[in-house]
Amino acid sequence: MATSDMTAPSGLHGPEGTRRDFLYIATGTVAAVGAVATLVPLVAQMNPDASTLAAGGPVDLDVSKIEPGQQVVIRWRERPIFVFHRSPETLKTLQDPKLIAQLSDPNSEEMQQAPYAANWHRSIKPEYGILVGICTHLGCIPMFYPQPNATSPVAGWMGGYFCPCHGSKYDPAGRVFSGVPAPYNLPVPPYRFISDTTIRVGENPSDSHWDFSSIRQL
Ligand code: FES
Repeated sequence: MATSDMTAPSGLHGPEGTRRDFLYIATGTVAAVGAVATLVPLVAQMNPDASTLAAGGPVDLDVSKIEPGQQVVIRWRERPIFVFHRSPETLKTLQDPKLIAQLSDPNSEEMQQAPYAANWHRSIKPEYGILVGICTHLGCIPMFYPQPNATSPVAGWMGGYFCPCHGSKYDPAGRVFSGVPAPYNLPVPPYRFISDTTIRVGENPSDSHWDFSSIRQL
């Protein structure tokens, strides 16, 4: 990633230097995530030309080739964007009262997404989750564990994202658990569907004028 990736985004809490250190660590993690992403047949679509990335312009992705249960990672404004095709089982988990009872902001009341994503699935279409993959604690990149597991990465795992830096947990919609260091849900970037199967990250739907800079914390 470019040197500018090591600069903390605006709206951060805590000492800037500390957070920048973690973003530096996260930079290495992005490289690892990118390497994994090349294993799926979406390379061209996940790598818009350099001038588009440098300008921070919108990035398109055809989501039809992402299998249920699979996630790809693209970059927008030099940040990792998780694009997760949720399975029917995952959608059921998102509405499980046992999960909801463990979440800090289950109804997305904090401004961590546009109004069009302030719903139980935090997205436009329930089956596709679009999230900024930066932990709201100190900026590491959470790891993707979509499957429930009795013991890993922690006991009683129901699927979602786990940040190994200090143990923050997020559900498959990026909703943060109570009692972990991260204070807010993972951000949802502005995006819209430009066709039935193609998303454009960086643009709101035509009926929305949401300002991404109004977000509580990146
Ligand atoms: S950066 Fe501390 S838990 Fe994620």
